[in-house]
Amino acid sequence: MYLNIALAKGRLAKIAMKNLINCGFNFNDYSDESRKLIFTDEVKRVKITLVKSPDVPVYVEKGAVDIGIVGKDILLEENYNIYELLKLNIGKCKMCIAGFKDKIPDYSKKVVVGTKYPVITKNYFNNIGVLTDIVKLNGSVELAPIVGLSDIIVDIVESGSTLKENGLVVHESILDISARIIANTVSLKTKFDQIQEIINSLEPIIERGRTNE
Ligand code: PRP
Repeated sequence: MYLNIALAKGRLAKIAMKNLINCGFNFNDYSDESRKLIFTDEVKRVKITLVKSPDVPVYVEKGAVDIGIVGKDILLEENYNIYELLKLNIGKCKMCIAGFKDKIPDYSKKVVVGTKYPVITKNYFNNIGVLTDIVKLNGSVELAPIVGLSDIIVDIVESGSTLKENGLVVHESILDISARIIANTVSLKTKFDQIQEIINSLEPIIERGRTNE
């Protein structure tokens, strides 16, 4: 029986694949640049599927894969019937409010916010009692204040270079984000040993200690 793993395409998948390969897994035709979406280690019976990050918990919940690696940002946006097994020390970034340096909005009035994360954004501003109009976008969120679509944005910031290259700055960091290993509720029982084995292999990227972030 194969253990099926979904990885969030992009930076996270690259780091996770590098770690799996370092741990002795062998995905013959894998390369960072490839457009191929499925890679199999026939000896260790592990199949990797690369999917868009918001789809990782969907694949896991529906049982299309047994486990997944995805950012906490995605897990906070929607409720899924899955197990969040472990926190990883990869995919570390911050959820930030960002905008123009000299244009901090008047928070006593309604603020227009561009974001890929409407739930996180709404919760944050509701908690601090600020009225918002959320403009839900699917990417390149940094464009929103530039084209006048929003006053500010809420987005993940990792290196900070996307903001910088688009003339924006962080106004405030609101949440620490990192990657998680999630599991299908049935697979956790039926493939427990295989899941345990892969977790052992991923030990170098497992965050030990505080798990409440
Ligand atoms: C994410 C995020 C920022 C960027 C931040 O976008 O939405 O745009 O990365 O990273 P940085 O601080 O290292 O520059 P992603 O790469 O996922 O692409 P997207 O804008 O198409 O969603």
